[in-house]
Amino acid sequence: MEGPRGCVPGEIGAVVALANRIFVRAGAGMGRKFPTLFSAENGEWLRTFWDGDEPVSLVGVWRAEVLSSFGPLRVAHVGAVGTLPEFRGRGLATALLEDAFRRLHAEGTSLVFISGGRGLYLRLGARRFGRLWRYRALKGQVPGPGQDLWAGIVERLTEDELSAVRRLYAGEPVHYLRREDQWRSLLPAKGYLPPEGGRGLCVVRRAGRIVAYLLHGSPRRTEAPGSPVRLAVDEFAGERAAVAAALPRLLEESGAEELDLLVQRSDQEMHALLGALGLVRMAATYSGTVRLLNVGVFLDVAGRVRPDLLRLRHAAAFDTAEGAEEAAIMTGAAFGGGEDAGAEETDGLPLMEVPRPDGLQFI
Ligand SMILES: CC(C)(COP(=O)(O)OP(=O)(O)OC[C@H]1O[C@@H](n2cnc3c(N)ncnc32)[C@H](O)[C@@H]1OP(=O)(O)O)[C@@H](O)C(=O)NCCC(=O)NCCS
Repeated sequence: MEGPRGCVPGEIGAVVALANRIFVRAGAGMGRKFPTLFSAENGEWLRTFWDGDEPVSLVGVWRAEVLSSFGPLRVAHVGAVGTLPEFRGRGLATALLEDAFRRLHAEGTSLVFISGGRGLYLRLGARRFGRLWRYRALKGQVPGPGQDLWAGIVERLTEDELSAVRRLYAGEPVHYLRREDQWRSLLPAKGYLPPEGGRGLCVVRRAGRIVAYLLHGSPRRTEAPGSPVRLAVDEFAGERAAVAAALPRLLEESGAEELDLLVQRSDQEMHALLGALGLVRMAATYSGTVRLLNVGVFLDVAGRVRPDLLRLRHAAAFDTAEGAEEAAIMTGAAFGGGEDAGAEETDGLPLMEVPRPDGLQFI
């Protein structure tokens, strides 16, 4: 068995085939759905074990930078975690993940977002995290755009629309630093623009000028048959009143009966608007889990806003299994733990907010 190791460009096809075999529900589409993950540029971060010339276990890593509410941070996403059935239970995925954490730690990455919350991740110190509000809008509950606003689903993205969307996103208090080529490849790959489709991009204009946009998922019946068809907003940016005004349009276009909108706790303007409309809200967390790595780098940023976090620092190296418990404690203190998602901030300490690690960023 050879590994853990990254991949050279000529090996990426075999790794995509492995992912397609394991994630059968994605069809044969893992390479198309995750173009930035399965790219030659990212080959070193497709961490794998090989049996002869066949990859048998994969941990996909994609690195990015975010502006958090406390300052800039290097983050990574972990996804496409899979081992061929005949090689499972031998510690391969665990070894790949530990190796990935060590490498990310060495280059100063502070947070690893993981798409999932299974034992494998929890044992290594990842935790559900964050406190958000999830609003539910029912059909007919939100008034349509006033005369000065116009909301429409984009069929073919023009250069002007792309630059407006990029500008609005970059103006959000928390966001990923997304390169232009990433926008161009990820919007269609994730189905927000044709040819993949299913999801959508809605832009809202005032006097012809784009003042907000929303990315939405595909309408789904998430619970038992007969339950309402729901549409989730995966991302929004720009003027809050324009975002709210687009909600009825999304419901109308998609045929969904209700709509879910996740809002950061600090987004007071959005809370005021949606509250005035009488929308119901419930506590929510970010999707998946987070593993806090490299506490030194994390505290350089977070410790300035929350000096109390400095006291939680322990001697244990955060990149090891021994550091897992400390990472979990620090995660709860910095972000609010997943289990107390509904709690109010009564102690006056601000929680760190990060951009949602799903939607366009999901791997
Ligand atoms: C999850 C998965 C990647 C684990 O890979 P692995 O190489 O077997 O992992 P390890 O040997 O390091 O052990 C970790 C897991 O194997 C399980 N395991 C232990 N012994 C096992 C055995 N004999 N047979 C099967 N699984 C076993 C452990 O319970 C643990 O799973 P957990 O996360 O539910 O606690 C693999 O089962 C898989 O590919 N599953 C399908 C794809 C998937 O669900 N990916 C994760 C998306 S979140």
